[in-house]
Amino acid sequence: MKGIILAGGSGSRLYPLTAATSKQLLPVYDKPMVYYPLSVLMLADIRDVLIISTPASVPAMQVLLGDGAHLGMNISYAVQPEPNGIAEAFLLGADHIGGEDSALILGDNIFHGTGFPGLLRDTRKNLDGCTLFGYPVSDPERYGIGELDERGNLVSIEEKPKQPRSDNAITGLYFYDPDVVEIAKGLKPSDRGELEITDVNRVYLEAGRARLVRLGRGFTWLDAGTHQSLLEASQYVHVLENRQGVRVACLEEIALRMGFIDADECYSLGDKMKNSLYGQYVMTVARSVA
Ligand code: DAU
Repeated sequence: MKGIILAGGSGSRLYPLTAATSKQLLPVYDKPMVYYPLSVLMLADIRDVLIISTPASVPAMQVLLGDGAHLGMNISYAVQPEPNGIAEAFLLGADHIGGEDSALILGDNIFHGTGFPGLLRDTRKNLDGCTLFGYPVSDPERYGIGELDERGNLVSIEEKPKQPRSDNAITGLYFYDPDVVEIAKGLKPSDRGELEITDVNRVYLEAGRARLVRLGRGFTWLDAGTHQSLLEASQYVHVLENRQGVRVACLEEIALRMGFIDADECYSLGDKMKNSLYGQYVMTVARSVA
C-alpha cells in the first residue's frame, strides 16, 4: 500500500502565519504539523509516501524529511502548482500509486486515540473499495458529511451541506483500492473549480463500495486549519505529552516501534537533536528498547 500526504493549499485562513511558510510546517506544540499525518501513515505500516505540496514549500519539506531513509522509509515529493482540489492528489500521485491500494491523508489532520494502530491495520486488511472515517462534530456544515442508516451502512455523502443530515464529519484520511486513479481522472471540477474528494467517494458509494468507520468519543480528531484550531491542537498535544511523559507523533519512536529502524539508528537520530527535549526523548526511547 502506498501513502500520500496532501500538504498544499494557500493556507489563506492562517494569514499572516502562512505568508512566508507552508501551513503544514507550522508548529503543533513541539513538532511541525506534517509529522502528525506522516505518523498516521507509518502506524498503518506504510513506508512509501509521496508528499504533495506547493512549489514554494516542497524544498522546505525536503529539508525537513529528506528521502525518509533515516526513518527506514521512502519519501518522495510532487508539486501541486495550484490548489485544484484534494482529488488532484490521485492524478499527481498516479505513478507513485502504481496500481496498488493507497491511503491519502490531509497534511493538517491530527488523529490520536487508543487502538488507532490496530484500526489502521484492520482497515488495510479489509479494504474493499474505499474506507472513510467519521467523527462527530458540532459544526457539520464545515465538512464533508456522511450519513449512516440504522445498520451502519453509508447512505449519503455531501460536501459542506447547508442542512446536514448528520453530524458525522468525514475526516481527511481515506483508504482506496487502485480504482481511485481512474475515478479521479474522470472527475469534472466542481462549482468552486476543484476536483472534490467527495465526488470520488460518491462514485464508490454509488457502486456500493464505500464504508465509513465511526471514530468513537474517546478519539481525538483535529484539523489545524484556523488560528483557533491550531492553538487548540498545540494545547492538546502539550497537555497529553506533559501529563503522560510520552510524545504524540514522534516519528523516530514510531519508526523504531514499527521495526523500520533499530535502536542504534534511533539513538543517533536523537543524538543529533540532543539540545532539545524532543531529541532527548528519542534517545531515551531508543535506550529503553535496546
Ligand atoms: O478536514 C476534513 C475535510 O477536508 C473534509 O471533511 C472535507 O470533505 C474535505 O473537502 C476537506 O475540507 P476542507 O474545507 O478542510 O478542505 P480544504 O480546501 O481546506 O483543504 C484541506 C487541506 O488540503 C488543506 O490543508 C489544504 C490541502 N489542499 C487542499 C486543496 C483543495 C491541498 O493541498 N491542495 C488542494 O488543492
